Amino acid sequence: MTPLLSRLGALIRAEGPLSVARYMAECATQPGHGYYMKADPFGSAGDFTTAPEISQMFGEMVGLWCALAWQMMGSPPRVHLAELGPGRGTLMADLLRATARVPGFREAAHIHLVEVSPVLAERQRQALSGHDVRWRQAFETLPQDAPLLVVANEFFDALPVHQLIRGDDGWHERLVDVDPEERGLRFVVGRAVTPLAALLQPACRNAVPGEIAEICPAGVRTAAAIGSRLAAQGGAALIVDFGHGESGCGASLQAVRQHGRDDPLAAPGEADLAAHVDFPTLLRAASDSGARGFGPIGQGAFLTRMGIDLRARQLASGNPAHAKDIAEARDRLVEPEAMGSLFKVIAFVASDIPTPPGFETTEVAQAAPDPC
Ligand SMILES: C[S@@+](CC[C@H](N)C(=O)[O-])C[C@H]1O[C@@H](n2cnc3c(N)ncnc32)[C@H](O)[C@@H]1O
Repeated sequence: MTPLLSRLGALIRAEGPLSVARYMAECATQPGHGYYMKADPFGSAGDFTTAPEISQMFGEMVGLWCALAWQMMGSPPRVHLAELGPGRGTLMADLLRATARVPGFREAAHIHLVEVSPVLAERQRQALSGHDVRWRQAFETLPQDAPLLVVANEFFDALPVHQLIRGDDGWHERLVDVDPEERGLRFVVGRAVTPLAALLQPACRNAVPGEIAEICPAGVRTAAAIGSRLAAQGGAALIVDFGHGESGCGASLQAVRQHGRDDPLAAPGEADLAAHVDFPTLLRAASDSGARGFGPIGQGAFLTRMGIDLRARQLASGNPAHAKDIAEARDRLVEPEAMGSLFKVIAFVASDIPTPPGFETTEVAQAAPDPC
């Protein structure tokens, strides 16, 4: 039995079954025992590999996007450059190296990393040694005295989701309980109809009994907070993650361990729990808060528009012995059957940026929120 499993058992016996969101939050960020709090999970020796860990080209393209967005803002002499959930710090290190020759950008950029994991913060410190970096526990604590540039790769998928299950009489919350037979955990269904149903997408209105829907209030809150900060301070945000281009019903909660799928309840704190990101809902939250939203576009299309093919050729010609690895990494990031289509990119911008780089013709219509 893992230490977190015995803590969760005690918690459930004291307070009753937990929401899936509380379960995810405990598994990810419980001090000392949560998945991200005790070890570095990335790379071939870990559980999964993210885009910045596949190739430096990913962070370089994001860096180019940031520098272009900054120039569109009129090259302000001071800008807060913040990354949410920076993992090993690889994306930020590649971004900073790629923008070193953009006149004035590095001098203007004040770097902030929003991270809850002490282990990963230490990895970030090593990756970014020589840079002046501030660590923050939450987006809301970022300074308000200059425009913002925000980047986030695979951050929103880690935020806790509630799962709701359709019954004959309405939506009930799916909960995590102790399994009396097996000393593990099991899913159960809350008895009462849940008020969280008010937050469901209109697409779930015609769900039939047994269907599952997910909502991510923490993601919506963060997108809304970014939107209002951009509206007040100016700037832009770039969010990359896996998920839906259209809101809909369905269970996407997944556990990944040693590069394979696992049962989300099997080993709390030992597997990465994540859920598909509902991009239209994040875009609406940001636009309701005063920013303009663009996308989603596929990661492949975004990286291609930012010039990854040219960069891959440059790297290969400078390093012919690694040309095959560079081409493979480019394909993994760009091709639709790899990460190019499931992973998507959205941008939020303040009024000082007409259209963010790479998003020409993809502005989201400013639809009024449609209650379920
Ligand atoms: C899937 S990893 C992505 C890491 C990195 N962006 C990359 O692409 O390699 C999720 C990151 O978000 C951080 N994280 C997870 N939940 C968080 C939260 N509630 N607040 C701040 N950071 C969080 C984790 O510690 C980790 O750095």
